[in-house]
Amino acid sequence: MLLFREKIPVEWLPSVTSHLADVLVDHAHLERKAATTALNLEKYRELYPRVGELNSIAIEELQHFQLILGLLHQRGIPFAQPYPSLWISGLMKAVRPGVRGQAIDHLICCALIEGRSCEKFQVLATGLQDQDPELASLYGGLVESEGNHYATYILMARAIDDAETERRLDFFLNLEASLIRQPRLHHTLH
Ligand SMILES: [Fe+2]
Ligand SMILES: [Fe+2]
Repeated sequence: MLLFREKIPVEWLPSVTSHLADVLVDHAHLERKAATTALNLEKYRELYPRVGELNSIAIEELQHFQLILGLLHQRGIPFAQPYPSLWISGLMKAVRPGVRGQAIDHLICCALIEGRSCEKFQVLATGLQDQDPELASLYGGLVESEGNHYATYILMARAIDDAETERRLDFFLNLEASLIRQPRLHHTLH
């Protein structure tokens, strides 16, 4: 179902599982940003009819944020500052401002972030089974929801303009494939 053109680098899983506290703080911020992003999409005229669906996504992401915050609290990990992801900023910088297709670009970026999260949560659900079964099951429980967000954003873009979405998806998938090969600067999920 996922369209990605590059595999998650093999070094990603060990680098994440060896820095779980940092990654959980990053994950909390990721869910917070996913909630605000769903609300930000409501600024586009093309998405006015979808405001209710976007609100539902924002609510779900806030629930995920609360879930991760609860886990941080339970494990005595302080909520701390967010670190930037070159992968996320690289995608977002390619959104063309002020053009008719800006909403499509923004939706595709959101979809790719949700899709990679879905994929990485699945890898963590399997990869953490021995090391941290509680966390493995938490990640397993998030996979479906993030996969649905991915699909919803792609379908929203296609509903605006299917041909333009196809063209921009081709561009963004190539960009994503080059960005995911870059080393991360911090212990972040992306
Ligand atoms: Fe989420
Ligand atoms: Fe999501």
